[in-house]
Amino acid sequence: MVSLRGTEARRRTERSHAELIATVAHELRSPLTSVKGFTATLLDKWERFNDEQKRLMLETVDADAGRIKRLIAELLDISRIDSGRLEVRRQPVDIAAAVGRHVQVHITGGQSPDRFFVRIRPQLPALWADPDKIDQILGNLLENAVRHGDGTVTIEVAPTTLGDDGEEGTEVTVRDEGPGIPEASMSRVFTRFWRGSKRGGTGLGLYIVKGVVEAHGGTITVGRAPRGGAEFRFILPVGTPAHLL
Ligand SMILES: Nc1ncnc2c1ncn2[C@@H]1O[C@H](COP(=O)(O)OP(=O)(O)OP(=O)(O)O)[C@@H](O)[C@H]1O
Ligand SMILES: [Mg+2]
Repeated sequence: MVSLRGTEARRRTERSHAELIATVAHELRSPLTSVKGFTATLLDKWERFNDEQKRLMLETVDADAGRIKRLIAELLDISRIDSGRLEVRRQPVDIAAAVGRHVQVHITGGQSPDRFFVRIRPQLPALWADPDKIDQILGNLLENAVRHGDGTVTIEVAPTTLGDDGEEGTEVTVRDEGPGIPEASMSRVFTRFWRGSKRGGTGLGLYIVKGVVEAHGGTITVGRAPRGGAEFRFILPVGTPAHLL
């Protein structure tokens, strides 16, 4: 029995590896096909295009190369998450300021300031976390709320407690007023390559967010916002400075 189960488990793992490789190859191929197509055309027919046309093609090449680069960075993150090698370098993080910065990025990018509502509760505990990874979490959740959601995006930061011993923590909620995530799909949003709509994206964002939150000893959940949109909530324990561990 035991060995049979072992064989079955191994087959399953191999199948999921094969699926992963197929998906990755597929995701890399389409931007690379575009890069190759435009560079070949430019090299072949350089004189036939004016500066404006060449610039347009190079902009597409640039955007597609950016997509490939981002995908590879995400895959490296995934490999670190899956093998438990994701390093968390803790230092004091001002999460309220980080939220403000991320909102500002979207406003600078053309979103109306009215689209965001930030609420910071008083008496937040001092948080020790990896600032780059906090940026990764906030960046992904806000981008999702803007891209997949609709209406006002509300970001709330509040003190909380977690675990049996009531450890102090910080709770961040990001909700929007869009279509939300169907109840039946909620268990799948944090899995690799799952995506509900076809609005761009590779479906890796939330898998990485979950991995990064958990590497901090935290948790993340998804639910339905009071007015129907998606609501993501993550909780980070205050953490301990590495030199005190
Ligand atoms: N705020 C939201 N409202 C509605 N649907 C959402 C929201 N956030 C995520 N989703 C759904 O969950 C799916 C998975 O999200 P995830 O961030 O993992 O991938 P992605 O945004 O499609 O791509 P990536 O983040 O890798 O660029 C999305 O494709 C979308 O269908
Ligand atoms: Mg995303």
